[in-house]
Amino acid sequence: MHPRPIKDNVFAVGAVDWDRRLFDALIPLPDGTSYNAYLILGSQKTALLDTVDPAKADVLFENLKGVERIDYVIAHHAEQDHSGCLPAVLARYPMAQVVGSTKAKGMLIDHLHLEASKITAVEDGATLSLGDVTLEFAHTPWVHWPETMSTFARESKILFSCDFFGSHLAQSDLFVKDEEFLYEAAKRYFAEIMMPFRTNIKRNLERIKDFPIEMIAPSHGPIHPRPAFILDAYRDWVGDTPKNAAVVAFTTMHGSTELLVERLVASLAERGVKAFPFNVAEGDIGKLAIALVDAATIVIGSPTVHVGLHPKVAYAAFLANALRPKAKFAAVIGSYGWATKMAEQALALMPNLKLEVLPGVVVKGMPRAEEDEAVEKLAETIARKHKELGLA
Ligand code: FEO
Repeated sequence: MHPRPIKDNVFAVGAVDWDRRLFDALIPLPDGTSYNAYLILGSQKTALLDTVDPAKADVLFENLKGVERIDYVIAHHAEQDHSGCLPAVLARYPMAQVVGSTKAKGMLIDHLHLEASKITAVEDGATLSLGDVTLEFAHTPWVHWPETMSTFARESKILFSCDFFGSHLAQSDLFVKDEEFLYEAAKRYFAEIMMPFRTNIKRNLERIKDFPIEMIAPSHGPIHPRPAFILDAYRDWVGDTPKNAAVVAFTTMHGSTELLVERLVASLAERGVKAFPFNVAEGDIGKLAIALVDAATIVIGSPTVHVGLHPKVAYAAFLANALRPKAKFAAVIGSYGWATKMAEQALALMPNLKLEVLPGVVVKGMPRAEEDEAVEKLAETIARKHKELGLA
């Protein structure tokens, strides 16, 4: 690999990680990821924007071969997948000064033990001249850490946004080629790390709206040559109004809960509610996160294990609580053998969500005709509640 030109004097020097399948020991990466770093060769100064995950340090340094001087390293974010190579970069380029937000300075000292004198903290709106290139810093915090900032390169009109607008997607092309394919990867990424901070993300969209952006270069996944595509998607995802959709996170042991789920999904579909059944014992949890971005209702479906909630369903409920989606309603369906506290446990795992709880259906053994009717009634209630919100 060598520096790959993007536009004017801007080059990609990061690394693609084709084989990584899990992030934070939590997030599935079906399509790998990339750690994007960019080099800007100004007429007077050179800046490196972010580094890469330490596991790919060799790729970064191979790409920087021949670069004799780096004056600034812009550290948009202190998380190690972007900042982890800073100590090695500073060892190789001892004249370089690290530039980050005020919060980032403290975090880089704590996390990477950098010397305070090596870091310049910049305020929101501050600028840095590289000669014929002007970098303007925009604080865009809580994308998912509190210190994150973006950089707008005024002359090339590129926004370097770090995790913001990123996607875990490994590809050989530098730019987005297939927007439909990218959409799911970007939505998955938003759901997994940014959804809990929707209000902040909304503010960040406001913060950057006056930049005449012609390209968005994030720190994961391909570069957006058509910024309107990803900006429109984000405006939709951060909106407060959910869609006429229900997520059914369930698993089944002997088939009773699955029968309830099948009936509920069919009944919701008949009433025009888009239902997404997701078996948490088998599926890619990222798909559940994606569905939670839009859903107005979360249905938990669980058999009973030792009188309680199935542990895999508990994981899904706990995750939903952590991701804080905009859903308004919840219900629990499921089954038991002799006694159950499954429904109470499921609801107790989602205190962050402020959901209106709808009457659920819990059956002993296989569902009977009257329990089928109760499932129909639940579907009817969900459809009516969505309609009352103006979603249908
Ligand atoms: Fe890609 Fe929050 O680091």
